Amino acid sequence: MLALTTGAGVILLALGAVFVIAAGGGLLLRSRTRRSGLEIPRAMRPGPSDQALETPLLQKLQGWGVLLTAFFVLWIPFNWVTEPGTNLAQDQSLKTAAIARGQLAVLPYSEENQVGIGCTRCHGPELKGGTIIQIGVDPVTGAVIPGRPANLSTVCGGPFTGHPQIWDVSDIQGTIVNGRASLGMPSWSIREAGALDDQQINDLVNYLVWYSSKNVPFSENICLNPDAQKAAVAVCTAPSATIYSYQHVIKPLLDAAAAATAKASAAPSAPSASAAASPSAPATAASGAPSATPTLSPVAALPPGVSC
Ligand code: HEC
Repeated sequence: MLALTTGAGVILLALGAVFVIAAGGGLLLRSRTRRSGLEIPRAMRPGPSDQALETPLLQKLQGWGVLLTAFFVLWIPFNWVTEPGTNLAQDQSLKTAAIARGQLAVLPYSEENQVGIGCTRCHGPELKGGTIIQIGVDPVTGAVIPGRPANLSTVCGGPFTGHPQIWDVSDIQGTIVNGRASLGMPSWSIREAGALDDQQINDLVNYLVWYSSKNVPFSENICLNPDAQKAAVAVCTAPSATIYSYQHVIKPLLDAAAAATAKASAAPSAPSASAAASPSAPATAASGAPSATPTLSPVAALPPGVSC
């Protein structure tokens, strides 16, 4: 991706302008000198003599050849060597900007903070957990369930810091996109029932990862440490686990069941339709779910202080 800073853009623009002016000036000069000479058509003028061709012109052309070769021999390796560094620096500056936007986004909207969405309204000041219980509704039974807005300042600790449904960054992103209607967390994405676009959600995720990583030891950081992430999945898929990741387990099952139901209603007379609509459908769908869905692996005991 080409992401030029304003400074680099201005330099490129200035170089382009100099090139255009030089090329225009050169053309103008050439046409003037030609007009002052004899009006002999170009094709009828005598060509350069053999001597002139063999020595000065040839040398001049060879000189240009050496210069251009030297330029490419230096320019291409220079770019090749510096490219990763340039990309990393650009990546880092884009991430820093995203974190800064996310930091403003979690605060309430105000005249000064027009990008504010106000996650702190529920999740509390500094996102350290809300005290006002939200009323959620179970989508199946319609039962009212109270949900307490989580302490997002430790969200990257996943099950190790009291977030059993967060197994990796995609769970954080997925919770913001889908919400948890049954527990009072609204959906925020325009893909679902919210008003935020993908970039705004990306900014929030980048900010939450940066912010919570300051409060969680690296050994337990499921956002940045792949080992911690594996450990979280093992802990949360133990037979004693009762809460699963919505993104990794529940949503793929719901999506597969919904797809099976849609298929069944689209072709009611097909013989496979009755099988898909039968109560065993979710189980069938589960086996066909994406391989990202972890299989429930037997883990003997939960580490102390961890509940799933
Ligand atoms: C209307 C209140 C409300 C608002 C506003 C709100 N949340 Fe939540 N959020 C909740 C509740 C309640 C939960 C806990 C659900 C549960 O117990 O599983 C939650 C959970 C979460 C979780 C999952 C945490 C975990 O431990 O599993 C994330 C991430 C999250 N919210 C991010 C956000 C972000 C980002 C915003 C701002 C765009 C936001 N929330 C705004 C109510 C809210």
